[in-house]
Amino acid sequence: MARALDLAWRGWGRVAPNPLVGAVVLHNGELVGEGWHAEYGAAHAEPAALRAAGDRARGATLVVTLEPCAHHGRTPPCIDAILAAGIRRVVIALEDPNPIAAGGAALLRDAGVEVAMGLRAEEAAAQNAAFLHRVRVGAGPFVALKLATSLDFRIADAAGTSRWISGMEAREYVHWLRAGFDAVAVGLGTARADDPSLTARGTPEPRVPARRVVFDRQLELPHGLRLVSEQPASTIVIGEPSAPEERAQALEARGVRVFRAPDAAAALRRLRDEGVASLLVEGGGRLAGGLLAAGLVDRFYWIQAPVWLGDAGVPAVRGLPTAALADAKRWRVVERRSLGADTLLVLDRP
Ligand SMILES: NC(=O)c1ccc[n+]([C@@H]2O[C@H](COP(=O)([O-])OP(=O)(O)OC[C@H]3O[C@@H](n4cnc5c(N)ncnc54)[C@H](OP(=O)(O)O)[C@@H]3O)[C@@H](O)[C@H]2O)c1
Repeated sequence: MARALDLAWRGWGRVAPNPLVGAVVLHNGELVGEGWHAEYGAAHAEPAALRAAGDRARGATLVVTLEPCAHHGRTPPCIDAILAAGIRRVVIALEDPNPIAAGGAALLRDAGVEVAMGLRAEEAAAQNAAFLHRVRVGAGPFVALKLATSLDFRIADAAGTSRWISGMEAREYVHWLRAGFDAVAVGLGTARADDPSLTARGTPEPRVPARRVVFDRQLELPHGLRLVSEQPASTIVIGEPSAPEERAQALEARGVRVFRAPDAAAALRRLRDEGVASLLVEGGGRLAGGLLAAGLVDRFYWIQAPVWLGDAGVPAVRGLPTAALADAKRWRVVERRSLGADTLLVLDRP
């Protein structure tokens, strides 16, 4: 299953809105086939692994990260391929929460295949968090916050300079991360300070480039910034209903879309209505604090660099209400690893 989970990541940036799925075929304990869902609309992981295994799939075990589908979508049902290949046992991490595709495990059992469910289910769920959020919650996008901070939780030095707190590996990781989100957002302060492009310029090349979003209450975004002047991906600016209409028109004349929302929750719902099912928020501290305080952040990607910036540095999060330790909810660590000299910690909201 560990191998199948690894293979599933190969679809990152290429398969959404479908889930990431990986599969392996084991014949007498020997790995005889591997597959993954590589491209939206292309083969699912199971038929790909079965094809790789060929005749050796007969009587073998299929290990797959998500319950095989039982429906005709863009491809035929995976359970048909599994039965045709003569698989004897199927080991699944995660039950398919999608009512249209679910039920594969029961049908396999009915056909006499041994089925085990739940192996490494937590890891599989963390890998497909945005997909699960879309199917189960639906209301707003899956919101992930990403910040690169110093050891003392600053995102920029006293002069506002944040380039580069983290090292090359961490920056490559962020480009990889962006490829898997429908949209990438910053606050006006960050747009002004850093003039970011917010595009994914690494591997994989995203199937659909992420849209760019700026939280900017009074629509003050300067038109000379890359988010306005460079239009490789569409930019959406979110302002308050009271923001001057002429500013909205001036932005729209430059190809920027303007949404108005009274608060962050409404802004997220508006983005969801536009097809944004996953949003990566890249700061700064005030936007991060506002979203956290409103309980709107589902996941935190924290890149911690081994450097101190001191009290005058820009705080990574501003505006969080005080919490008593006894009541403070603990976030769940889903990943912890090194990115060069930096440390990545991925945490999910309890
Ligand atoms: N190291 C990193 O990962 C990283 C990442 C990003 C930025 N930075 C650094 O952080 C600094 C900027 O951070 P910052 O805290 O000053 O600014 P920021 O959070 O990027 O932007 C703050 C602006 O966004 C607005 N805003 C926040 N929530 C909003 C909402 N729900 N709707 C509409 N507008 C909203 C704020 O309005 P209100 O004030 O009215 O709430 C404010 O105008 C820069 O120095 C930048 O280099 C570092």
